[in-house]
Amino acid sequence: MPRGAFITLEGLDGSGKTTQIRRLAIWMQKRSLDPVVTRQPGGTPTGDRIRALLLDSGATAVAPLAEMALMFADRAQAIAEVIEPALAAGKIVLCDRFTDSTEAYQGGGRELGSATVLEMHRLVCGNLQPDLTLLLLPSLQASLDRARHRNQRTSAQTGQDEGRFEQEKESFYRRVWQKYREIAAREPERVVLIEGNLTIDEVHEQIVEAVSERILTAGHRA
Ligand code: TMP
Repeated sequence: MPRGAFITLEGLDGSGKTTQIRRLAIWMQKRSLDPVVTRQPGGTPTGDRIRALLLDSGATAVAPLAEMALMFADRAQAIAEVIEPALAAGKIVLCDRFTDSTEAYQGGGRELGSATVLEMHRLVCGNLQPDLTLLLLPSLQASLDRARHRNQRTSAQTGQDEGRFEQEKESFYRRVWQKYREIAAREPERVVLIEGNLTIDEVHEQIVEAVSERILTAGHRA
């Protein structure tokens, strides 16, 4: 059985990742590619508990290294329970965030640095790397506005508060943004940068083009 393909979506809160992952999954399903869709943090029962702990805006302060370690604890569980079994079964895995998020948020935003995050990645994830990463980077201001609006709406609708990161200052998000750009410049073979304030349809088209060229024609078929 040929190994499947591992595709991740990355970007700031409010970059439209979740909408795009849903559209990409539908596009694939229509082509009988049946992807496994997951997210981080979360995506497993243990991961959902870690997610609640990390994102609750009422949580007591979490030390940056503890935050990073929890992100990797969640990731270790997701790799064991969801990602590796799916890849071994030849499936395409679509994952909303992976280690690039830790590098951008904890390495950049919390200023732990890339080296610390990448060392932890090596210990926890071995050499598991996405085959393709779609990095959505609309303007910083557009992302911030959308993220704040979304969190207020979600809290009002579900009573669930996932706003701990959205409370961060603009300077934090600027560092996250810069680190994402740094990752894209460092790994152009893996990371496709989708920039600018594009419409949902325009972003979807670029995503489909990247997936078709880099995954489907490269023989990573489910
Ligand atoms: P989400 O809303 O896209 O699901 O992301 C949840 C939040 O968790 C988001 O603010 C980014 C943050 N996060 C990190 O800080 N580090 C990580 O490694 C991951 C996966 C997410």
